[in-house]
Amino acid sequence: MASPSRSGVFAADTDQRLEAYAESISFDSRLYRHDIRGSIAHAEMLSTVGLISSQEFQQIRDALTEIGAEIEAGKMPFRFELEDIHMHIEQALIERLGDVGRKLHTARSRNDQVSTDTRLWVRDALDRVDALLADLQRAFLSRCDADFDCILPAYTHLQRAQPVLAPHYWLAYVEKFARDRERVADCRRRVNQCSLGVAAVAGTTLPIDRDQTAAALGFDSPTANSLDTSSDRDFLIESAFVLSTIALHLSGWAEEWILWSTVEFDFIRLPQAFCTGSSIMPQKINPDTLELTRGKSARVMGNLQTLMLLVKNLPLAYNRDLQEDKPPLFDSFDTIEAMLELASPMVRESELNREKIADRLEKGYLDATTLMEWMVRRGMPQRTAHHLVGAIVGEAMSRDVPLADLPIEVFQSHAPEIDNSVYDVLGSRNAVDAFCSYGSTAPDQVRAQIERWQTAIATADEV
Ligand code: ARG
Repeated sequence: MASPSRSGVFAADTDQRLEAYAESISFDSRLYRHDIRGSIAHAEMLSTVGLISSQEFQQIRDALTEIGAEIEAGKMPFRFELEDIHMHIEQALIERLGDVGRKLHTARSRNDQVSTDTRLWVRDALDRVDALLADLQRAFLSRCDADFDCILPAYTHLQRAQPVLAPHYWLAYVEKFARDRERVADCRRRVNQCSLGVAAVAGTTLPIDRDQTAAALGFDSPTANSLDTSSDRDFLIESAFVLSTIALHLSGWAEEWILWSTVEFDFIRLPQAFCTGSSIMPQKINPDTLELTRGKSARVMGNLQTLMLLVKNLPLAYNRDLQEDKPPLFDSFDTIEAMLELASPMVRESELNREKIADRLEKGYLDATTLMEWMVRRGMPQRTAHHLVGAIVGEAMSRDVPLADLPIEVFQSHAPEIDNSVYDVLGSRNAVDAFCSYGSTAPDQVRAQIERWQTAIATADEV
């Protein structure tokens, strides 16, 4: 069969090698629901403005619904000569309805059709990602009460720094994923514009109603410039960027928990259902899920690069290069959804090795900064206190004891004004309790943040 996009102007058939080279049905078939939805809205508008009769609209709507069910059931054979999902559906309509089917493409081009379908698809996909992110936030939040009393070392440069409450760690990720959700929502606003009616590039001379199709498809408004719309793939690039920041956050979390699950750290026991074994070393319980999360994040970030390079140097407006946008787009969404689906149960089902953590918590002088601030509060200049506490820590190191185990005389040999109340801020527990600033790991601050998030997430659930 000759391609329906080849008009009477062609005197020669398509070379079969071009058909195989140019097809997109192998990946854009997954747009079929959105294509059918867009076509029904378009046909209804055509009947409202009198370009087709209402009876023709009903025939088209019913036939498109049947075609959708046929594709759903896997009964539509896909053929390269029909290139893409848009042509397959239109051709199936023409086979059913003849000339009535031939009217569907009135005032429409595949250029506005593919953009509309992709916007509808991305909108649904962003909503799924948002729901998965909310679930991951709930997973971290669900740990906060039970882990409230557990103190972990916070690291800078991967060196022990200061003590923090475990829920302070969990809420750090809740915050990161909250920003991701804001980016999803913001991106969705720009996705949610209707391209339909832009036709090929300049609009149409036919009296269409773009507001009607936009409203019927749940878009906020029609796009305002046909040349821009026909070329615009910003909404895909933005989506791929939003997914890339999610990937970055997941990858960082995965790396942290991979480290935490080593014998060297031994902070966390990962659920065995999400670990794998070794084919040679019988003792191995490997964190492959987290490693793949780290690894798959590279694909998501690579896809963003692919999309940006794809549109770089394209003149206005539609160019066939744009067909190549879908494989990276779909891959980014598929990958992020798979990553998020496994992250939530891993967060819920992992267990902190509280004893192991506590055993080594007084190693690394996590309370040194608190001691310095204790001296600052008593009037010593910060730089002086910083130097002095460094010297005290050096002495504790040479004795291989924590600060809390140094006799008072040692403190007083460095600063005679130090009295026994210094021991009130020494040790990780005391050090954590000494914090007070907003956003810090102070227990009442952390408690307030847990409550803020519990309320925020409960309120969002009601919406
Ligand atoms: N298969 C094409 C794509 O996905 C459809 C648009 C084709 N438009 C055109 N003017 N050839 O981009």
